[in-house]
Amino acid sequence: MDKEKKLDTAFFGQPRGLSTLFFTEMWERFSYYGMRAILLFYMYYAVTKGGLGMNQSTAASIMAIYGSLVYLATVVGGWLSDRVWGSRKTVFIGGVLIMFGHIALSLPFGVSALYVSIALIVCGTGMLKPNVSEMVGGLYSEEDKRRDSGFSMFVFGINLGAAVAPWAVPWAANGFGFHLFGSGMNFHAGFSLAAIGMFFGLLQYSLDGRKYLSKDSLYPNDPIDKESLRPVIIWTIVGLAVLVVVLGLLAAMGQLNITNIINIITVIAIALPIYYFIMMLNSKKVTKIEKSRVLAYIPLFIAAAIFWAIEESGSVVLALFAEQRTVLHIGGWHFAAANFQTLNPLFIMILTPVFVALWDHWKGQPSAPGKFSAGLVFAGLSYILMALPGMFYGTAGRVSPFWLVGSWFIVEIGEMLVSPIGLSVTTKLAPKAFKSQMMSMWFLADSAGQAVNAQIVKYYSTANEVPYFLAVGLVSIVFGVILVFFVKKIHGLMDGVD
Ligand code: GLN
Ligand code: ALA
Repeated sequence: MDKEKKLDTAFFGQPRGLSTLFFTEMWERFSYYGMRAILLFYMYYAVTKGGLGMNQSTAASIMAIYGSLVYLATVVGGWLSDRVWGSRKTVFIGGVLIMFGHIALSLPFGVSALYVSIALIVCGTGMLKPNVSEMVGGLYSEEDKRRDSGFSMFVFGINLGAAVAPWAVPWAANGFGFHLFGSGMNFHAGFSLAAIGMFFGLLQYSLDGRKYLSKDSLYPNDPIDKESLRPVIIWTIVGLAVLVVVLGLLAAMGQLNITNIINIITVIAIALPIYYFIMMLNSKKVTKIEKSRVLAYIPLFIAAAIFWAIEESGSVVLALFAEQRTVLHIGGWHFAAANFQTLNPLFIMILTPVFVALWDHWKGQPSAPGKFSAGLVFAGLSYILMALPGMFYGTAGRVSPFWLVGSWFIVEIGEMLVSPIGLSVTTKLAPKAFKSQMMSMWFLADSAGQAVNAQIVKYYSTANEVPYFLAVGLVSIVFGVILVFFVKKIHGLMDGVD
């Protein structure tokens, strides 16, 4: 190859393919977070107000387990791309499923459409999300120094989509500013906009991708042969059979209900990462040093799960607080409870350059475990802050929106200390033989956190918001503080990775 080959710098100094992936993921996140911004309200609003009339704690629990399933499914999505379809095709199929998932909710078919939509979006996002990120990595050669800045731009795209959607989707649901739906809401119009967003994503992915994405992404990295396919098929059948038996037994006992299904998913989402850890620690393909790194990853994984539990509760618990306990205007400027979902990505966009500069200049900066422990303390503090309005003024009335703004600001400082750091430390600690599985572990931390949420958010209500915020906040802070004492030890186990 020609060593002098010119670097492709067509997209703000980055390879042209980054623009394709940037906009694909921007639209996908637009559709996902737009849908999430109104879904909770759609589920528990009364039928007369355009909702499904579920009870609030079930709706909250579904929000959390849905989020858990989405990240759980990335394991399957990563596998399909690695061994069967290659990332290009897997992302495309995923995007199509996501679009149909939003279309399902845009139709007036009630609860059955909701479950169909969840199934489609879980499978679709599982296929799209990990593989889009993987393709970003694939744009750069090993030596290319632009990799980190490329990922930062990609994350910016994620958050741009996530920030615009909580304005656009509720706006559609509210009749595009024309009160088309009287004083009520038409959630289906909102979900339609999410579907249209994903359609734009797919359109530009397929038109642009053909020109600018590498040919490698058309093929699986490690194509599966007939030999290895057999155990996969057998285990899939066994797994499905066990599932059918369990569901059948529950049905026979008259216990087949949403609560029990959520409980089963919670167990799976927590058991799967435990299985992965045990497997990696016992694998002959993993060297001694690598095993020590996997050990170091365990406390980081737990910390990440706790962090994501609080971060992801923004679309559940804080959304309820916005709807039920917050004054929805500042002076003459009125907004909807769903609009608050813009704060998380907005703060990320604002804080990212600050933290990039901080890590560039801070000589004695803490190691990854140190940053994680600070991240947990910030996450906990964001919850403690939310306990204060109830303590000061009681829980009967509404309080200033700035409580939520402050809480999101604090948790996003935490996110800056956990999310980008975690992503990079995950790749560095990965044993060679389990590179892509380790990447899935990162998403599984989020999945496990939300699986726990699915169990605890049921207990959140206005009446007990103070103990709820205090208890969950304290768990995070206590874990963060405990982690401080182990930073040195964990760093030692990481064996040279910082
Ligand atoms: N909020 C981010 C996203 O949607 C990160 C999710 C994660 O890493 N668990 O992409
Ligand atoms: N905080 C969510 C994710 O990064 C939107 O980025």
